[in-house]
Amino acid sequence: MPDVTIRLTQEQIDFFCKNGYLAIPAITTADEIEWMKEVYDRLFANKTGREEGNQFDLAGTDEDGEEAKLPQILGPARYAPELKDSLYHANAVAITQQLLGSDARYLGDHAIMKPARTGVETPWHQDEAYWDGGMVHHSLSVWMPLQDVNMENGCMQFIPSAMDVEVRPHHTINNDPRIHGLEIDELDTRSAVACPIPAGGATFHYCRTPHYTGANHSDEPRRAYILGIGTLPNMREEKRDFYWNARKHTPRDERAKAARERQQS
Ligand code: NI
Repeated sequence: MPDVTIRLTQEQIDFFCKNGYLAIPAITTADEIEWMKEVYDRLFANKTGREEGNQFDLAGTDEDGEEAKLPQILGPARYAPELKDSLYHANAVAITQQLLGSDARYLGDHAIMKPARTGVETPWHQDEAYWDGGMVHHSLSVWMPLQDVNMENGCMQFIPSAMDVEVRPHHTINNDPRIHGLEIDELDTRSAVACPIPAGGATFHYCRTPHYTGANHSDEPRRAYILGIGTLPNMREEKRDFYWNARKHTPRDERAKAARERQQS
């Protein structure tokens, strides 16, 4: 693990606790972004993880042979373990420990790519809505773009909110059970804040902070590499029913199930 090079100020920590998000201009070096871009593009070009359901279209019906509108890879570091040795990982964990406490640890990673000109929006959602409503979650996502991001190519936007807000009802995009991506049923977005940042900058958002990215209207892919960092989920006393997840029947889940069955036989 490389040595940590960044520490947040008390002002930045207070901002996160009040607003549920934080943007910083640099979390790693330009050199690291260059090699990461190569790894990233290779994983998407090779459709790495697709067979196991770990690469899929987040915003479409994800049929075989169809161009993905919003390709996502779950756990890219499973396929390219060198990603875990990055300065990005080291800084992201250290900063998260400042924000959430010293028992915060790396939980997982994913990559969301918006293809040039065709990449669609990622609707407003809270990350916790994707997870188990019966568990306590205390984590955040670190979102790092591998090129400059702005309103044209889909930078992050947040609704400033306290960390103890509830998870709101969600539905799958277009109410289509074949689509993985979730959207909040109703949300007032007038207080939304956009966070344009340079390549190798980062945003941090708590697992309940509503967020959104617009479509990519630029001529370059918009690459984002995201880390989940926090405490391991514990059982909740009062269960919540995240019924929107039970309604999903995605091709991704079918591929994952088939891969598990192949492994067992
Ligand atoms: Ni999200």
